[in-house]
Amino acid sequence: MLMLNVDWYEILFQRHSFRRFQKRDLSDYEYNEMRKFSVTFKPFGEAARVRVLPGGGEAVFKGSGSVKDARAYMAFISGSQVTPLNLLRAGYSGEAAILEAVRLGLDTCWIGAHFRSGKVAEQMGLDPGVKVYGVSPLGHGQPGMKNVSGHKRLEIESLTVGTQQQELWQASALEAARLAPSDRNRQPWRFVVGADSILLRLDAAPKTRLDYWKYMDCGIVMLHLELGALRAGKRGEWQYILKGCDAARFVVL
Ligand SMILES: Cc1cc2nc3c(=O)[nH]c(=O)nc-3n(C[C@H](O)[C@H](O)[C@H](O)COP(=O)(O)O)c2cc1C
Repeated sequence: MLMLNVDWYEILFQRHSFRRFQKRDLSDYEYNEMRKFSVTFKPFGEAARVRVLPGGGEAVFKGSGSVKDARAYMAFISGSQVTPLNLLRAGYSGEAAILEAVRLGLDTCWIGAHFRSGKVAEQMGLDPGVKVYGVSPLGHGQPGMKNVSGHKRLEIESLTVGTQQQELWQASALEAARLAPSDRNRQPWRFVVGADSILLRLDAAPKTRLDYWKYMDCGIVMLHLELGALRAGKRGEWQYILKGCDAARFVVL
């Protein structure tokens, strides 16, 4: 997708979640850059968007149990119906916002549960036709908390199905995909390598309402995969499937 910033690729290898923040505001530059991102990054038109606020985070994360002292935050918004497509769009655009924030030197953390969505709607003046699928604090993490966790991820072999020989772009795409964050770090996806494509699947067919939230993780991993392919010189497009285990197929152009 042309809206992708190739500089985000490096960020995939550096980003970690931060949950404890310094009690200070974003600089005007940081806030304005994030606002510019939020008005220009619209790969799904009006169907999904990112909104940023410089304050109010204390009320949004109150009682979340994980995020402390974040003032600025951003919200990942899509259509009010919790469909696979809306979840996927929220994941994709939310992860782009996270990578852009980290590129600007900010710290972030995806929060998909235990935030006050009513407060977000009130502070942002959202209309009832939309839903907040996730939020992230925006700020500067507490010193000493940087890069302590390491990337705990499954090996790519256990995420990849089939024996197809990988092209250079596919290996790059899969390595980038492996680093994608997911809810509780479940990495609930599998990749089937084809001749000119990679099929993205869920680890199991969704049965319960909660299982469907894995589609948000799919949106996140789609962005990573695309950035890895782009870095190896390949652009492609996503063909949505959204049936059973199959989420979407990335096909090079
Ligand atoms: C969709 C999604 C929802 C998440 N929800 C929460 C959450 O509610 N609370 C939390 O502390 N972390 C949450 N996380 C952060 C993950 O636990 C974290 O990304 C994962 O463990 C990988 O660690 P890393 O981000 O440092 O690479 C969420 C991540 C994703 C992608």
